[in-house]
Amino acid sequence: MTTSSPLQTAADPTTGNQEEGSIELRRVRRTYGDVTAVDDIDLTVHPGEFVTLLGPSGSGKTTTMMMVAGFEELTSGMVLINGRPVDKLPPKDRNLGVVFQSYALFPHLSARENVEFALRMRRVRPAERRQRAEEALERVGLAKLGDRRPRELSGGQQQRVALARALVFNPSALLLDEPMAALDKRLREQMQEEIKTIQRSLGISVLFVTHDQDEAMSMSDRIVVMRDGRIVQQGAPDDVYAHPVNDWVANFLGDANLLPCTVLERSGETAVVDLGELGVGRVRDRGASGDRYAVSIRPEHLAFIPADRTENSASGRVVTSTNLGATIRHRLRVGGQDLLLRELSAGRRTARELDGEVFVGWEQDEAQLLVLES
Ligand SMILES: Nc1ncnc2c1ncn2[C@@H]1O[C@H](COP(=O)(O)OP(=O)(O)OP(=O)(O)O)[C@@H](O)[C@H]1O
Ligand SMILES: [Mg+2]
Repeated sequence: MTTSSPLQTAADPTTGNQEEGSIELRRVRRTYGDVTAVDDIDLTVHPGEFVTLLGPSGSGKTTTMMMVAGFEELTSGMVLINGRPVDKLPPKDRNLGVVFQSYALFPHLSARENVEFALRMRRVRPAERRQRAEEALERVGLAKLGDRRPRELSGGQQQRVALARALVFNPSALLLDEPMAALDKRLREQMQEEIKTIQRSLGISVLFVTHDQDEAMSMSDRIVVMRDGRIVQQGAPDDVYAHPVNDWVANFLGDANLLPCTVLERSGETAVVDLGELGVGRVRDRGASGDRYAVSIRPEHLAFIPADRTENSASGRVVTSTNLGATIRHRLRVGGQDLLLRELSAGRRTARELDGEVFVGWEQDEAQLLVLES
């Protein structure tokens, strides 16, 4: 790509603005009557970063995006784009590429005209418009389909046109709200990879919304978990997954073994806990405090070990073993509790002897002390 390419993003060091591409929310709040859709959130997307809002239906993801895009007013707080407050700027002057589920293509315009529309609104001359639209369509792999109307395109191709329209005016950042919700699994995974490739090659910041945890895990530099209009936890995907702050996050992000415990000692990043019949364990501690505690261990972080150890292990019995193809899921009865253990199936016998005694162990770093909310 040459430096004169119209698709070069604003996140270019030569522009001199260190914050080009950043999005910042400061104590942003939005209420509708007595519903608080977004409850004083603070959030920063750094230049070039891929940040995902992940949360269940109604947790405030779309409302947050609409306030950043300028389609919704803030009840209070402030949004800054490229380090500058944008409260007085209408959506088209915020320089954000937007793909929202509800933000459909114009049915009577061709794919190319749909993409050009974004430039027409910005008063770009026709010859340049055409060239830039062609380039944007090529980037999303639709160079040959520019003349087709939306109804002559598949769902995935329509989403790509929407993406081309969002990229064509060199936005400083992209806002993508469930852009692939209507696509089937295969197409979805393909689009996920394409969006990541485009994002990396342009170095553009992305604020992404999904309620699909796999999608969030695979695409994001950072995941922001939302619940009831608030941010519950944020961090790198593997970090949030392995070290949830409470049982709600642990369960929302997949299967978790939650072992109720009493905290005996806390120092730095480690806690010593009494797990009742499972003995004493040493686990990771993030310092969260509450009335009741548990240790969370992901099923794939539990392993069969040859013999019991003094710490971070227990003995139990196999209740069921199920081959799921790539993995085997074992249901165990350990110290009066049901635990899940997942192991790769490659090279392993499918079923353990049912009801036979087994020993399971876990690494201290993969067991997280968390607060029990429910
Ligand atoms: N225009 C509105 N009027 C009244 N309440 C609204 C309005 N828009 C959103 N809400 C409420 O605000 C809360 C957050 O909605 P929002 O659309 O932001 O959720 P979401 O996280 O995007 O959910 P989903 O995953 O279903 O898209 C919900 O309780 C919703 O009913
Ligand atoms: Mg939504």
